[in-house]
Amino acid sequence: MADKKLPSARILAIETSCDETAAAVIQDGRYILSNVVSTQAELHAKYGGVFPEVASREHIKTIYTVVQEALQQAHLELSDVDAIAATRGPGLPGSLVVGLNMAKGLALGAGKPLIGVNHMEGHIYSAWLHPLEAEEEKEPPQFPVLALLVSGGHTELVLVKDHLTYERLGSTLDDAAGEAFDKVARLLELGYPGGPAIQKAGLEGDPEAFKFPRAWLDDTWNFSFSGLKTAVLHVVRNLQSKKKNAELPVANLAASFQEAVVEVLVTKTRYAAQEFGAKEIIVAGGVSANRALRQAITKGAAGRVHLPAIYLCTDNAAMIGAAGYLRYSQGLVDDLDIDALPTWPISELGSSNN
Ligand code: KG4
Ligand code: ZN
Repeated sequence: MADKKLPSARILAIETSCDETAAAVIQDGRYILSNVVSTQAELHAKYGGVFPEVASREHIKTIYTVVQEALQQAHLELSDVDAIAATRGPGLPGSLVVGLNMAKGLALGAGKPLIGVNHMEGHIYSAWLHPLEAEEEKEPPQFPVLALLVSGGHTELVLVKDHLTYERLGSTLDDAAGEAFDKVARLLELGYPGGPAIQKAGLEGDPEAFKFPRAWLDDTWNFSFSGLKTAVLHVVRNLQSKKKNAELPVANLAASFQEAVVEVLVTKTRYAAQEFGAKEIIVAGGVSANRALRQAITKGAAGRVHLPAIYLCTDNAAMIGAAGYLRYSQGLVDDLDIDALPTWPISELGSSNN
């Protein structure tokens, strides 16, 4: 069971905030009955990033099949689920409306409650999901827990005081961590998405080869990655100007860049956990799939560190189902006329959706 005092419920969840069309069925906010993700990464690769109109059109083409497949894989009919959850924001407007409207249609047609979920809240709740392949039942996170959210659009430190109760301690002042990975990957001509490409390229590299700057932003819980990105650019230009057509030391550049990002993320997260009395840490969002980050945050940790299974780090609907379940179990359902919220800071969420 998720939490013993909470009711049993199945949630059909939909996620279309960026370039993944996803649907899942989640039992009790924890057990994955199905988890279908259709990624558009290949389509966007030729643009070097997500092309919003293309993303929206692709969601429209795929959403129905993805939802059908999620129900089929769970061996359920729409009438068997208790509620329909969908990402309401933050995200690309043209992408969000596709999933949200699909959820509204299903909720209206089947007479089920609708739950609008904050995408970043979803990433936090990926830590509650019990991966299919895990043999042992893992104790869910204990409050207060410090969450480091690192995705393509956000980098945030959030103190999770209780279910659905957040205090945002800090965020990035410029680029998100994932965005920095994507931009540096483009600079090194490694392709999109940049995170996995940098990780792979850096495998054989020396993380100490280049001493890239770390923006500590002392006395705040904020981050900044644009200076680091510019520093990589300068080193690349310098190397290229010294010798025309010289091969760049891509492995060392990638490993050193990654090390700079990881060191700042891990150090600040640990300090914040200490400062705010959080014994446990959650790292979630696409960048939490990064192997160097996962190793560094786990090594010598003072308490439990919750890292989602790799396939639950990047965007998926299972996490939306986990967060949606918590909202549903507390009676936080939404009207059918809610709008998508492309900008929706997690700091605006308390214990209600309004
Ligand atoms: O959470 P996510 O799937 O989508 C957003 O909500 O933005 O995160 C996507 C981001 C991209 O910037 C991608 O490059 C990054 O996560 N990412 C990684 C890795 N896998 C995905 N960054 C570093 N290392 C990885 N292995
Ligand atoms: Zn995300």
